Amino acid sequence: MVVLPKPVRSPMENRSTRLHNTVWTCSWLILLVVSPLLATASGWERDKVELVLYYETLCPYCSNFIVNHLVKVFDNGLISILDLKLVPYGNARIGVNDTITCQHGPSECLLNTVEACAIDIWPELNEHFPLIYYIEKLVYSHEYTQWESCFEPLGLDSKLVSDCYAGGRGKELELKYAAETNALQPPHQYVPWVVVDGKPLYEDYENFLSYICEAYSGTAKPEACSELSSNRVQLREARKSHPVCYMKEKTSSPVFEVMRSAVESMTSWTKMLLDV
Ligand SMILES: *[C@@H]1O[C@H](CO)[C@@H](O)[C@H](O)[C@H]1NC(C)=O
Repeated sequence: MVVLPKPVRSPMENRSTRLHNTVWTCSWLILLVVSPLLATASGWERDKVELVLYYETLCPYCSNFIVNHLVKVFDNGLISILDLKLVPYGNARIGVNDTITCQHGPSECLLNTVEACAIDIWPELNEHFPLIYYIEKLVYSHEYTQWESCFEPLGLDSKLVSDCYAGGRGKELELKYAAETNALQPPHQYVPWVVVDGKPLYEDYENFLSYICEAYSGTAKPEACSELSSNRVQLREARKSHPVCYMKEKTSSPVFEVMRSAVESMTSWTKMLLDV
């Protein structure tokens, strides 16, 4: 049997080692307790993939994307690994005195602001997404003048939104979204402009699900991702350009004329707001 010699320590050395150990243990304890608190406080969740949708409310490709594609993340479980942000501003422009001009006219400015207000009033995705989905579903079926009917079935108070719009908060939010959209690097060229973890998907945006799965580095990968990855080869082959609203698109196509004339028949509430 080999007897290892005991290390000889001076009393001084012993004390400093003990002190060192104590500091070491305390640091770990503090780190263990504090870091989840910090993570919660800053909304920082290491494993989540961030998807930001820059869009405008009346671009038909945006409503199609929200209603027929983006909504899938709630069904296939991808929402659990997703930090989803909506930025309703798109190709609008800021003119003198911070006036905002929207690509598809004043009713688009109104609905952009309504959706911005909804996000502000109900910051939880689970609360504002259904409303935005409802409104965009009406846009998709060319019935967006009925947008005020979206609140009641969802149990949301429309007065909060009309106050936000009429009280100037909505304008403030739109200017904030304008700054955010105009600061994009690379700059957005059209809408829908889908950005996953800081990288735009360009015209391949309808394949956003596979980008989310690829970007995810956590351990709780949803089952939908394995299905996607087994289809990846086909998906890659299926990649093609999806239609978009370009910034310089003329707004005088027949569809937009229909939309414009629909503005005339808007409800009095909407007219009142447009006049503010
Ligand atoms: C901008 O606002 C100022 C102050 O309200 C006003 O005097 C000016 O006429 C406005 N400019 C335009 C182009 O509307």
